[in-house]
Order: sequence, then structure tokens, then C-alpha cells
Amino acid sequence: MNHLSEKVISLKGRDLLTLLDYTPEEVQQLLTQALELKQKAKNGEPTPYLTGKSLGMIFENASTRTRVSFEVGMTQLGGHALFLSPKDLQIGRGEPIKDTANVLSRYVDAIMIRTNSHESVEELAHYATVPVINALTDAYHPCQALADALTILEKKETLIGKKLAYIGDGNNVCHSLLAIGAKTGMDVTVATPKGYEVDQEIFQRATEAAKETGATLVQTTNPQVAAENADAIYTDVWASMGYEAEQSEREEIFQPYQVNDQLLTLAKKDVSFLHCLPAHRGEEVTASVIDGPHSAIYDQAENRLHAQKAVLTALLTGE
Ligand code: CP
Ligand code: NVA
Repeated sequence: MNHLSEKVISLKGRDLLTLLDYTPEEVQQLLTQALELKQKAKNGEPTPYLTGKSLGMIFENASTRTRVSFEVGMTQLGGHALFLSPKDLQIGRGEPIKDTANVLSRYVDAIMIRTNSHESVEELAHYATVPVINALTDAYHPCQALADALTILEKKETLIGKKLAYIGDGNNVCHSLLAIGAKTGMDVTVATPKGYEVDQEIFQRATEAAKETGATLVQTTNPQVAAENADAIYTDVWASMGYEAEQSEREEIFQPYQVNDQLLTLAKKDVSFLHCLPAHRGEEVTASVIDGPHSAIYDQAENRLHAQKAVLTALLTGE
């Protein structure tokens, strides 16, 4: 007996490496499941769908939201999460990904990983016999994009035809926003400085996927063009994890891409401001915007929990 109001597609056993691997219907189903799980959590209804299940969480990079929301999510679903640091794992001493993937698959029901190299996650998923969830690589951050889409959906009632403006570095978060826009019919305009564009192969894949939903994906170097008439404006740090050494040179290049009150005036009156966090006030966004009335950053952070509970339930149980 499934716990969802409607059962459509089973995602049991699937990996989540990028949303580009999912159909529009599958993405929609995850969003619907997330909304249902959120409602149940608010009602205090128990959701013991993963009783006795374990999630292994490998973190090669720092995390606040991802770690806490996955761990709490597993607890709320009746399961258990293990925090695995490469400092303690044998992988940190050179044990091959193949062996790590096979061994962990004998113990846990799913593996979540945050690491720089997307290829490493693909390799892990290749050898693992349990679902692998990408919790951020240099290429994608799909769990973040699901939470972001959920937030926009809640604020705007639909994603179809809404305009999301992403302004800043053409990074992992930006790639996943393009992917979710393509899969949900949400228009995404990305404004990046020259030399910091999105990966063109990913843009092409997203553009191809967008043909199915009618989403329009646009690239520009002009932040004003992106912000114009936007329903949501999104930014992220100028130097992602792994690029800290470029911080000072990037500060200069990215200055015209700061999301500030002036930029917000170009957007719709009820524009939502989004940021995956952590944020640097005074750099990619002013305090007046991120702490102002348009900001949805804490809803977004909360929605990581609900979106990931939907992913975990879907990949581990098919429901
Ligand atoms: N947005 C996000 O992934 O945050 P953490 O790095 O804190 O997990
Ligand atoms: N683009 C950022 C996101 C952090 C959640 C990074 O990769 O560091």
C-alpha cells in the first residue's frame, strides 16, 4: 500500500547524479512527493517509510544544510544516516572507489556523496549496487535544484512559464537550475561574466531537454537582461569550493553581477530572491536584498529536507 495520494512512476533503485537523467514526469513526481511529505511533517503525521534503512553519507567537502537535512530526513523517515568522512574512511588513504562502492553497498541501502569530481560520483554509481545520490560535485547540485524549484512552486503556484534569473558564476548550482528549468517548463536566463559561462555541453543537454517542456534557456553576460521581468532572482558565491584561491580576482570581475536593490527593481514586483547558501553579504548579494522582504533563503534551506525525503523515499522504496 503506497503512502502517496497517487502512484505514478517507480524510481526504485535509481541513482540521482543529475536531473538531466530524469524525465519531466519523474521530476514532477519528486516535487509532488516533497510537497506531500512537507505537509505531513507540518501535520505531525509519522512517515516511517524507511524503517530499518541506512544511508551512507560521504562528505569530502564542508556542509551545513546537506549534512543536517539528509541526516534529519532519514531519522524522520524511520531510518538512519551515517556521516562518513574521507579523513576516517580508507578511501582517504587510496582505497579504490570500486571497492568502496561494492563494500558500502553490502551495508547501506543508499550512498550520498559530496565531492569535487563528478566523474568520481559516476564511478561510484557504476560500481555501487544501491542508489547513489549526488550531494554536490563540480558539475551539479541536483538536491539543491529540487528544493529551489519547490520553493518557487510554493511562492508562484506554478513553474511553467515563470522566469528564473541566475546571476553570477556558471557553476554546479547554475547547471542544476538549468536542468530543472528544462524539466519543469520554467524559463531560466543565466547572466555570467565572460570566461565564467556555464559548461556548454551541459547547456546543450539542458536545451535539448527543454524542447519537451517548452522552457526557454538563455545565456547572457548582461545581468540587467536576466533580471528584467524575473519572477525569481538567484545568485551563488563567486568562488565555489575548490576555487577559493581565485577569490580576490573573482571579486573584481563579478562586482557588476552583484544582486542589489537596483537590480531587483528590474524584476517583477513580487520577485523572490534565492540563494543556495552559504552566502557572502556585500559580495554576490547585498544584505538589503538577502535580508529583505523578497528573500526566500530560509524556505529554500528548509525545502532541502522535504525534497531529499522525497528522493530517499522514491529511490529506496519506489513509492
Ligand atoms: N546549499 C548547500 O548545499 O549548503 P551546504 O554546503 O551547507 O550543504
Ligand atoms: N557553488 C557552491 C555551492 C555551495 C552549496 C559551491 O560549490 O561551493
